[in-house]
Amino acid sequence: MKNAPVKISAAANVALIKYWGKTDLEKNIPAVASLSIGIEDLRTETIISESKDKTDTLVGRFKKYEKKRILNYVSMAKKLLGVSGGLKIETANNFPSSSGLASSASGFAAIALGIDEFFALDLPRKDISRLARLGSGSAARSIYGGFVQMDTGTDPFAAPLKLEDPWLLDILVLVTEEQPKKLSSTDSMNLTKGTSPFYSAWLDTQENDFLRAKDAIIERDFWKLARISEHNCLKMHSTIMTANPPHIYWNPTTVKILHQVQKIQEKGLQVFFTIDAGPQVKLICDPSDTQLILEQFESMHDISKKIVTKVGGEPRIERLT
Ligand code: PMV
Repeated sequence: MKNAPVKISAAANVALIKYWGKTDLEKNIPAVASLSIGIEDLRTETIISESKDKTDTLVGRFKKYEKKRILNYVSMAKKLLGVSGGLKIETANNFPSSSGLASSASGFAAIALGIDEFFALDLPRKDISRLARLGSGSAARSIYGGFVQMDTGTDPFAAPLKLEDPWLLDILVLVTEEQPKKLSSTDSMNLTKGTSPFYSAWLDTQENDFLRAKDAIIERDFWKLARISEHNCLKMHSTIMTANPPHIYWNPTTVKILHQVQKIQEKGLQVFFTIDAGPQVKLICDPSDTQLILEQFESMHDISKKIVTKVGGEPRIERLT
């Protein structure tokens, strides 16, 4: 029987409490728990259909190593799930790839959701999340929208944080560089784990950050969440900068933005920053202040793109025929 093509739209996410470090490279087990928000308008759209020549084919703009990584993942996933048949995978992001905007999260989440739908496996979401994790740790969280947590363990999966009402927050993505990053997050994590004197402190303090951030979200305390998220982000980057050899994901504009955020906060506007493995800055804003916050960046011409979006990012799954 011929399976109908499926179209998946999965959103990127940004961790407020970061995952950094793995306890198992092959199974992609995060060393620490993490907590993220889905980014409504940063999306990967992936169409999966039957491949004409029975082998897996990937259509999209990829470097050779990225193509290899994705095709290896698809073949591993099919083997693991006990399904067969060549797949044609057409995939595109509506934002720059591999530059710290979490394209691997939305990308692998879309493929994991797509394989489940294409083969009509109807797996529980937690198993799709586990499958996505094997592609990229953060992808496990892009299976859901909103606030999402992921624990550690032997085969961890992500789960949405259940809130009585959604917390409506805006996300302002400030793109400072559109070039792919030079050091992958996996390579950087391994370097940090092996060489940074601060890595053990990172591990020791993460649980407390995670629990406090969860409390802040449940209490809907903007400034509590702001303080803990900024602290957690800078702690992660400090371990990266103190690896040997050191690595700095930031550029001068990244630093300028951080100083500007502090000035804006002094004016009482509700905003905080977070940065993943790249030079881009994401600002989390209370929607009542977003416009004013945006105006404070008007004169920074070295920001190449400003994307105003919001917490969301529920995946969309469609069968095409
Ligand atoms: O999912 P990976 O392997 O690309 O690692 C993600 C690492 C961070 O984005 C920096 C943190 C996180 O929790 O998403």
